[in-house]
Amino acid sequence: MTKQRVLSGVQPTGNLHLGNYLGAIRNWVEIQQEYDNFFCVVDLHAITVPHDPKALADNTLTMAALYLACGIDLECSNIFVQSHIKAHSELTWLLNCITPLNWLERMIQFKEKALKQGENVSVGLLDYPVLMAADILLYNADKVPVGEDQKQHLELTRDIAIRFNDKFGKKKEPVLKVPDPLIRQQGARVMSLTDGTKKMSKSDPSELSRINLLDPPDAIKKKIKKCKTDPVKGLAFDDPERPECNNLLTLYQLLSGKTKEEVATECQDMGWGQFKPLLTDAAIAALEPIQNKYQAIMDNQDYLDSVLRDGAAKADEVANATLARVKNALGFLPHP
Ligand code: AMP
Ligand code: TRP
Repeated sequence: MTKQRVLSGVQPTGNLHLGNYLGAIRNWVEIQQEYDNFFCVVDLHAITVPHDPKALADNTLTMAALYLACGIDLECSNIFVQSHIKAHSELTWLLNCITPLNWLERMIQFKEKALKQGENVSVGLLDYPVLMAADILLYNADKVPVGEDQKQHLELTRDIAIRFNDKFGKKKEPVLKVPDPLIRQQGARVMSLTDGTKKMSKSDPSELSRINLLDPPDAIKKKIKKCKTDPVKGLAFDDPERPECNNLLTLYQLLSGKTKEEVATECQDMGWGQFKPLLTDAAIAALEPIQNKYQAIMDNQDYLDSVLRDGAAKADEVANATLARVKNALGFLPHP
């Protein structure tokens, strides 16, 4: 039996934080053996908001190295850079022409990001979800593992595929595979360290709000020491009045590899002064092997280049086949 296909990606904007890791990449690693996987560094998405051309290439390499450092296994997974595969841009254009504008104007992430950009909102920012749909549909992905914040974009991808198939597919032969999101409950929404009601985000101006995968131990210690807590003694999960408490316990659970019940029992009588060093040690211990592996990969650029070259060759093949199918369904004159 052939394995189902997985596709996912992260933008190469600055550093990966614990939200990206626990919400997305850790899950890719856990399920990868069951699937045939394509993991993409989505650099075309990174220019939908103002970006620094001097940093883009380095950030792209860093992200690819972090995928490997987090445990992506090349036996069952391909790692590639989105902009290396021309089909992503081309399919985006084709899908743009069948996607109603108001579907995009409804997107929560667009509205949030547009608010921050003021007058400077680019057409690309509005079009971001169509590019994401192209990423997914090109590879005939069955499953797309992402954090909770991407759910609406996945629904849009499904809607675009269904609309395309309705308009241009034959009844028994859909042109595009309709993908399913794969959103894990635990870790799907890691919250900011400085405000338990906001998600941990790369774009938060405060470095204290997030722990990055490449933070050295003393930075982790400092951030946890300064993180927001509450004056209640005894720590418990799932109290809506205590968002910070729930978030920090969940982080401790995921980073230490303990069960929720074990953590609930261990921490029920603790105060913050006792808990914070535990969380600090768990975070440092969980990130240390990733950081060591990352450094070894970055010290071997030839290896990293070869991974991305092989990944691009495999991705190109699958993507071009889908693109040809789509262009054929749309009625384009074949290349002579
Ligand atoms: P981005 O940083 O927007 O490129 O997101 C990359 C991946 O990380 C996506 O699958 C997101 O859903 C996931 N992600 C980002 N922030 C968080 C968060 N705070 N909690 C859980 N998952 C997240
Ligand atoms: N929009 C996603 C995010 O910000 C990143 C992304 C781009 C993605 N293309 C994708 C995720 C395809 C999954 C599949 O997190």
